[in-house]
Amino acid sequence: MIRTRSTSRPYWSPGATSGLGRALAQRLAGAGATVLAHGRHAQRLVRTREEIHEVTGRAVDTIQADLADLAQVHRMADEVLERYPRLHALVNNAGVGFGPPGGAREVSVDGIELRFAVNHLAGHLLARRLTERLVECAPARIVQVASVGQLALDRADPFTEHDYDGVTAYRRSKLAQVMASFDLAADLAGTGVSVNAVHPATLMDTAMVRESGYSPTSTVEEGADAVWRLVTDPDLDGVSGRYFHGTRQARPDPQAEDPPARAWLRRLSDSLVAR
Ligand SMILES: NC(=O)c1ccc[n+]([C@@H]2O[C@H](COP(=O)([O-])OP(=O)(O)OC[C@H]3O[C@@H](n4cnc5c(N)ncnc54)[C@H](OP(=O)(O)O)[C@@H]3O)[C@@H](O)[C@H]2O)c1
Repeated sequence: MIRTRSTSRPYWSPGATSGLGRALAQRLAGAGATVLAHGRHAQRLVRTREEIHEVTGRAVDTIQADLADLAQVHRMADEVLERYPRLHALVNNAGVGFGPPGGAREVSVDGIELRFAVNHLAGHLLARRLTERLVECAPARIVQVASVGQLALDRADPFTEHDYDGVTAYRRSKLAQVMASFDLAADLAGTGVSVNAVHPATLMDTAMVRESGYSPTSTVEEGADAVWRLVTDPDLDGVSGRYFHGTRQARPDPQAEDPPARAWLRRLSDSLVAR
């Protein structure tokens, strides 16, 4: 979460202990905002807080939860609602990448395919749990850090139990994020809360890209520029339900624009995240 000097606006950034999320949290803190940085490891949160303080002279708040455990995601949402009466932005950035080449299928604590669980379900749950608070504090923004790497979900195999590979699972989870963004944007029309999805930049030099064996082709700062714009640019006031490739509006995989497919995904997701 972050609070700007002028408007006292709090922002919350899940997945802030590495790569893009850390860069964005640092940038927002440096701009005078009050940031709630999320991470899954206590030590990494301490290090992130220290590094951001060293660079910006500003303190960030932190919160810990493993997004591969839906009970922890619920607990974190409870804690945020308890600690922060004001919230003006949620950036769902945390994510699991392709994994190492040939990596085995992984599941979350709840037994759900890991990339679907962390990349899509956790963000879906956080956004839905925080919606009421964001509406109370409108204007507010939800930004889903998705990817251009999208693949239509298979209704017969939503958790990639067959022909698994990490790239396929990742791409499906990233399209699921975009589909959920469009749905939420429609639900929040007229409330002053916008919801947009973004591909930050291609193959940024981050942990997930290095793990996958791909060579980075862009910098974390390029990705941070795209997300920063969606969080802060006044020209985007009222812009919602869009997908951006970097700073340019783009078309996602056609499944994102298929209402029955989105309704199917929403039913599935809601049933999985219910307490
Ligand atoms: N890198 C690219 O080229 C690229 C391209 C398109 C989209 N994206 C998206 O950009 C976002 C940020 O990725 P990145 O490139 O910055 O990669 P990264 O450095 O690997 O960061 C991923 C973040 O997600 C967190 N995370 C992973 N699993 C988690 C879990 N179970 N619980 C809580 N947090 C968890 C990580 O926490 P730890 O710090 O504890 O590991 C880390 O903070 C992701 O959503 C990714 O899909 C990246």
